[in-house]
Amino acid sequence: MYDVVVIGSGPGGYVCAIRCAQLGLKTAIIEKNATLGGTCLNIGCIPSKALLDSSEKYYQAIHHFKEHGIQVGNVSIDLDTMMKRKDQVVKELTDGVRFLMNKNKIQVYSGVGSFYSYSLNKIEIQVKNPQKEEIIETKKCVIATGSQVITPKDIGLNVEIDGEKIIVSDHALALKSIPKSMLVIGGGVIGLELGSVWSRLGTNVTIVEVLPDILMNLDGKMRQIARKALEKQGLKFLLNHKVVDIQLKKDSVISKIQTPKNETIEIETEKVLVAVGRKPYTNGLNLEKIGVELNQRGRIKVNQHLETNLKNIYAIGDVIEGPMLAHKAEEEGIAVAHHIANKYAHVNYDLCPYVVYTWPEIAWVGKSEEKLIEEGIEYNVGTFLFKANGRAKGMGETEGQVKILAHKKTDKILGVSIVGPYASEILGEAVIAMEFSGSSEDLGRSFHSHPNLLEVIKEAALDVNKEAIHK
Ligand code: NAI
Repeated sequence: MYDVVVIGSGPGGYVCAIRCAQLGLKTAIIEKNATLGGTCLNIGCIPSKALLDSSEKYYQAIHHFKEHGIQVGNVSIDLDTMMKRKDQVVKELTDGVRFLMNKNKIQVYSGVGSFYSYSLNKIEIQVKNPQKEEIIETKKCVIATGSQVITPKDIGLNVEIDGEKIIVSDHALALKSIPKSMLVIGGGVIGLELGSVWSRLGTNVTIVEVLPDILMNLDGKMRQIARKALEKQGLKFLLNHKVVDIQLKKDSVISKIQTPKNETIEIETEKVLVAVGRKPYTNGLNLEKIGVELNQRGRIKVNQHLETNLKNIYAIGDVIEGPMLAHKAEEEGIAVAHHIANKYAHVNYDLCPYVVYTWPEIAWVGKSEEKLIEEGIEYNVGTFLFKANGRAKGMGETEGQVKILAHKKTDKILGVSIVGPYASEILGEAVIAMEFSGSSEDLGRSFHSHPNLLEVIKEAALDVNKEAIHK
């Protein structure tokens, strides 16, 4: 009998399994796919970042190398090599997870895990793989089965995902040729990241977003800065627009789109990328058989210990409420392992960082100005532009700014948003400062090596009290 069986080997599941094993628990993990690592490693975060980097290098070569005095002649794309490199990055990381399972003596079951019977001191799970079926017993179980894409049908469009003309992120990460044109439905993270990849490689990309702006959780002013930067690169946005019908032609797709004035326009493209979000994946678990409760959105209900309505069955990551982010799932995986081992466990959801890996990158943590106004919290604002930073100038990466919101009375940092080069990395400093309940004064007084992009965050912190030096 295992102490813990984790179902699903994405960042939530495999991290949870490792920590359980580190805490001395006899642990197993079940994965239905051939490789470990879940959506993030196989068809999400990692391959998209590999392509984002490759496409950005190409974009730099054709648009910016000459500013540095580098002549490269004709630059061309070998898409096959670009894709193979991405596949190799994925392979090394998924192999790495397999190595970590072995190293930590975690038993890996290949197949679909399904609840078979439940009692307070024993859970039976049936592992079904094509060759054989096996029942394993455990004291505790962690459901970490992740999410799947929301399909066109889910949003009322009468068209199937065929992987050719109508595609989702998995397909957009593995196209065999560069499409001439692409309509992206959804101005969220996937729409912006994969829209950027193909736009940089030469595709004419139009993003249709039903809401008034992209990334509605991001601070309003920063949202505009980000959108303008992306528009300058050639991405087109149709905000407050809704795709109402899709017709397949022989070599193209015609999307009928409702405008804010209730008119209908038509856009013909080679591909349509559907990126309107993801939904929890609980298929095959047999949750109804043992009585695990879901909420109205199909997510598994959990308490503050991430335990479902059934004792000893936990759920983490995309299958429960909250942002569908790998690092959120990881923190939950650690918290569950600690709770199972009777140790202190806590996830500070308020400081979950968000990053969009466009260029410039977009990253934020904590509250936006709009949220503070809504909650009636008084605040001071500090901002600083990358164009006034020596390192950014030297790099030729001067687009964007940092914005810091701090409590008016206590000066405690309440929110930080960044649009700029390596915003994803810079944000780490803000997260740590906030985790330690830091004030803008703390951040502004801390040494920052020079020249460094992080000086922008220091200057923005100083600017909260109108003490920025280079502003
Ligand atoms: P998302 O939730 O980020 O964005 C979906 C967008 O589609 C929203 O802006 C929504 O308003 C819009 N939308 C919904 N229905 C629509 C319709 N009928 N017409 C037009 N627009 C519509 O979802 P996305 O981009 O599909 O990503 C899925 C998940 O994967 C997200 O939870 C995201 O956080 C995660 N992810 C995270 C990444 C990162 O952290 N860098 C990278 C890629 C994905």
